Amino acid sequence: MKIAVDGPAGAGKSTISKILAGKLKINYLDTGAMYRAATYLTLVKKIALEDSSAIINAVKDCDIDFIDNEIFLNGNNVSEQIRSPEVNKAVAVISRIPEIRDIMVAKQKKIAEKSSVIMDGRDITTIVMPDADYKFYLDAPIDIRAERRFEELKAKGSLVDMEELKGDIAKRDFEDKNRETGPLVVAGDANVIDTSGLSIDEVTERMLNIIVKKVNRL
Ligand code: DC
Repeated sequence: MKIAVDGPAGAGKSTISKILAGKLKINYLDTGAMYRAATYLTLVKKIALEDSSAIINAVKDCDIDFIDNEIFLNGNNVSEQIRSPEVNKAVAVISRIPEIRDIMVAKQKKIAEKSSVIMDGRDITTIVMPDADYKFYLDAPIDIRAERRFEELKAKGSLVDMEELKGDIAKRDFEDKNRETGPLVVAGDANVIDTSGLSIDEVTERMLNIIVKKVNRL
């Protein structure tokens, strides 16, 4: 079974995809984490963000693996480091490099070939798994997505300025939707769910209903 989930930052994709993976007993792949790991590598190696060919070479040579939903870069667990504000700021630059997308998409397609999986990201319904059994596009207005991120960060003990947070998310939305390769778009055959006003359980339930309905029709 292949499930593809796309949508902008803060729509609830990864939280819900993880829950669905548990309920359906399939693997979960957080493709955003892969772009974040490539960005973290670029920052650690102090490669200039303008130096695309050095970035491509570094990423070509690195190992990115997942073990129990933790991400490993060249054997080191970098699950925390990839969520830093520095990575947040630079990830759009790395993820718009076409050769980087080719490397990531190839890895993701290989994983999709091997096992039943739910993957979330920006180009999963369109480029990585255009033949997925189920496609979802999760969305919510920017105010709600910013509010969720604010609460998440607060729970981790970091207080950020709400307007700045909203500005960062708006910038990422723009960059994700307007890049030339693999932009975030709503696939024609995706089930679009506006998650505002819905709890995580309610969204999960809606997605499961769509899956069960289709399974029953087969
Ligand atoms: O899902 P996330 O916020 O962790 O993703 C981090 C960044 O990676 C996001 O700004 C866009 C990029 N990304 C992408 O370009 N393609 C994907 N399939 C997943 C994420």
